[in-house]
Amino acid sequence: MKKEKTKFVCASCGYESIRWLGKCPECESWNTFSEEVVVKQEAKGKQGYSGPLNISKLHKIESSSVSRFSSGIQELDRTLGGGFVPGSVILLGGEPGIGKSTILLQSLALLKKPSLYVTGEESLQQIKMRAERLGIASDLITILAETDLNKILSAINDTEPTLFVIDSIQTVHNPELMSSPGTVSQIRESAYALMENAKTTGRTAVIIGHVTKEGSLAGPKILEHMVDTVLQFEGDGNNLFRIIRAIKNRFGSSNEIGVFEMQGSGLKEVPNPSGVFLNEDKTVNSGSCITAVFEGTRAILTEVQALVVPSYFGNPSRITSGFDQRKLSILLAVLEKRAKINLSNKNVFINVSGGMRIDEPASDLPICLSIISSSREKTLPPGIIVIGEVGLGGEIRGVPQIIARLKEAEKLGFISAIIPKANFPETKGKTGMKIKAVSSIEEAVNTF
Ligand SMILES: Nc1ncnc2c1ncn2[C@@H]1O[C@H](COP(=O)(O)OP(=O)(O)OP(=O)(O)O)[C@@H](O)[C@H]1O
Ligand SMILES: [Mg+2]
Repeated sequence: MKKEKTKFVCASCGYESIRWLGKCPECESWNTFSEEVVVKQEAKGKQGYSGPLNISKLHKIESSSVSRFSSGIQELDRTLGGGFVPGSVILLGGEPGIGKSTILLQSLALLKKPSLYVTGEESLQQIKMRAERLGIASDLITILAETDLNKILSAINDTEPTLFVIDSIQTVHNPELMSSPGTVSQIRESAYALMENAKTTGRTAVIIGHVTKEGSLAGPKILEHMVDTVLQFEGDGNNLFRIIRAIKNRFGSSNEIGVFEMQGSGLKEVPNPSGVFLNEDKTVNSGSCITAVFEGTRAILTEVQALVVPSYFGNPSRITSGFDQRKLSILLAVLEKRAKINLSNKNVFINVSGGMRIDEPASDLPICLSIISSSREKTLPPGIIVIGEVGLGGEIRGVPQIIARLKEAEKLGFISAIIPKANFPETKGKTGMKIKAVSSIEEAVNTF
């Protein structure tokens, strides 16, 4: 017996409701609910399954090491944890025009394995034009312009690629479902079918996903849970640098980043990114502070800039680029309460150079010192880097990987560092830099 029921699902977060809602109570987005029909099989008789089950004792399961193959692009391999894993599913998200299709086409050309690129957004001619611009002439790449899930699955089974790319999951639709492409149920069903194909055949699947206005991956959150790896393409349109960040990785460390530069001939790797985020002529302005952020397995030197100016209207502005705005408000509150620096009548602007985004606690102190530097119109000493987490009590907390950060700075010619006192003992004998260890924000503010 089949029973039909309708439900309403939020396209943004997957929240389900029995009636239509204008505003989603979960993610607070508007007009995102669409109706879906649920067909339920009525339970009959005894519950459970009487056939054989695939149950094993943990200690009896044979272990196997993860085999990988290179994407042909070292920076991409790095974010993947060492390369593509056969049978794994990767979700790649990013703003429109950031370079998702470009990087994957470049990778397929270098793969030296048969691959299938399914495009639902562009025509074959558009893909060909891009390939010509990128100088790609591989005979191992097959292109399919299709959006019907069943036809895509048939093409995958017919061409037997080692890796297939779906560009993008929002365009794929299963004609057996009533809803239109891009809805929660379509995305979920299509992703599930593609994932099952990858898992059962050992093919690697790379799925491109759109992002919402707020920058998070569009579609149901469940999509991120289903896949093995979630990669996010970052960078602002005005900047040539592009960063691929691993947000989730079942086969490697998450938060690893790969850095690229967008050029006419495609995305070029930046193997040593520390230098590129720094000011080229190495002059230091007031409001500028260099820090070493730790991304995945490496330290990257980054410049943070603050601009503090009087506010002539009611509410002062707090505007950030590459840094969390709420975190800035917290740091300003700490500066006011613990270091007695009042910025309530000042506009504060923060910028992280090179289109880089930092959200590591170790960047709290450099942000605070760049603000102080700008408000006092006084530059920090040349050749100095600043590292430290700032607690609500104004205390400076220790950070992980201090030696790796200092080593990277030393390599690039930095001579001194302001670091948390808690990290000081471990630096002894490990660095030639002049170290100033601080334990409170007040102490740090008074170092220059
Ligand atoms: N002729 C060109 N010369 C230089 N750069 C170009 C050229 N054509 C495109 N680009 C760059 O490539 C980018 C588009 O890359 P791509 O199509 O891979 O992005 P995408 O993330 O797949 O976008 P979408 O979400 O629209 O599919 C452009 O934003 C631009 O920076
Ligand atoms: Mg594209």
